[in-house]
Formats: sequence, C-alpha cells, structure tokens
Amino acid sequence: CYRNPYDLYVYEGGSMASGQLSREEALACVGCRHACHILLYADTEAQLFEEIPIRHIVLMQMRFDGLLGFPGGLVDPSEESLEEGLSRELWEELGFSLSVTLEDHVSSCHNPSSSSSHLITHFYARRMEEKEIREVEKAAASTATDHGHEVMGMVRVPLYTLKGGEGGLPSFLSHSFIGNSRSQLEDALVRFGLVTPEELQTALTHAEQRRK
Ligand code: GTP
Ligand code: MN
Ligand code: MN
Ligand code: MN
Ligand code: MN
Ligand code: MN
Repeated sequence: CYRNPYDLYVYEGGSMASGQLSREEALACVGCRHACHILLYADTEAQLFEEIPIRHIVLMQMRFDGLLGFPGGLVDPSEESLEEGLSRELWEELGFSLSVTLEDHVSSCHNPSSSSSHLITHFYARRMEEKEIREVEKAAASTATDHGHEVMGMVRVPLYTLKGGEGGLPSFLSHSFIGNSRSQLEDALVRFGLVTPEELQTALTHAEQRRK
C-alpha cells in the first residue's frame, strides 16, 4: 500500500489518493467496495525440533483460488458496519465467534482499479491466547461453513529462517498472495514486533533470490 499523489479520483467533497487512508476517508468514498481482513496472532513457547523457537503463531489461510490471504471478506457498509461485516465473515470462514472492534483496526488501503468500482482493503489485527488460536484452528477445520469451499485451510506463518537462509519465512513469502495481503503481513510482522525489521529484510532478500 503506497501513497501516489498523482493518482487521484473524486470522492465526496474532494479527491482521494491511492494508498493509505483513514477509516473515515475510506467510508466517504462513493462507489468504492470494501473488504475487511484480520490477522490473528498469539505468543507461544513452542519450539520446532525442540530447538528453534516458534515465538508467535500467525494465522493465514489457503483460499479456494490457491492464493494465501487473511480471513475476512467483502462488506457493504450500507448494510452493516465494517467490523460487524468482518465478524460475520469470520463466523463463515472460521466457524468462530469473534467480535471485531474499532480498536482492532490497523490500516485502510485504496487499491485503484481499471474497473469502475475501486476496492478499499481494511486490515485488522487481534492478539489472542495460544489456547484461543487453537480453538480457531479447530473450528475452521470442522464446523466453519466455508471449510473446503471458500477456504481450503488455515496455515501458520513460519517466522524463523532456517540455516541456509531459505527455509521458513523466506520460502513462505515466495508463495503467491491475494491482493496486497503480502504487504499487510510484512507490515504487521514488524508493527507488532513479531519479527525485527532486520529479520524481515533478511527473509525478503532470500525470498527474492528464490524467485530468480
Ligand atoms: P465471497 O463470500 O465469495 O464474496 O468472498 P469474501 O467475501 O470472503 O471475499 P474475499 O475474502 O475473497 O475478499 C474480497 C476481495 O478482497 C478479494 O477479491 C481480494 O481482491 C481482496 N482480498 C482477499 N483477501 C485479502 C487479504 O487477505 N488482504 C487483502 N488486502 N485483500 C484481500
Ligand atoms: Mn516429524
Ligand atoms: Mn467469505
Ligand atoms: Mn474471504
Ligand atoms: Mn463474503
Ligand atoms: Mn461467501
């Protein structure tokens, strides 16, 4: 998500740059579609191979289209609030009841498109207990109505980089992601202190090498 002052279009009472915008600016956009997604995370003492600290559990999902993304979906603000809509999507996709609030909001991003209806992606995050995350995973794989349809399964993001520099976060970041969910992930990992900026940079460098 970026700010490009040269890419402007009209909304109620002004013009809107592509890139980051406030929740209020986003809701003032006439004719924009809105999508809300959330990053659920928890701390963990678990270790991989009884040696490598997992540190944090971060949830993403394998979508029906084979792309990685966050749980959530399209919300029509004329029918429900952004947070109500996100809670509804979480019930459909995770089979888990979670009441999303304004405090969970992280960022809103305007994605200009060639079609007439621009998409604004709203990003939320919620820290949970490891026990709760396990309940989310259980429900998502069993009672969630979208399981096996819109959602092929929840996945945890490996945050470590294994010896040799490829395994773990670098190879995870080399997969294909929906929309701007990859940058939402990268931003959140550093924002919430789940990896250091240096760790992310190292992982991105290795991920870049993998793609060549
Ligand atoms: P339906 O119930 O079939 O309408 O799907 P949905 O409401 O669950 O919508 P979906 O989650 O596919 O999100 C709607 C649109 O938002 C997608 O077509 C993508 O363009 C975009 N999108 C999907 N997932 C993410 C995500 O994790 N992050 C971001 N930024 N955008 C996403
Ligand atoms: Mn094994
Ligand atoms: Mn959905
Ligand atoms: Mn969805
Ligand atoms: Mn939907
Ligand atoms: Mn649906």
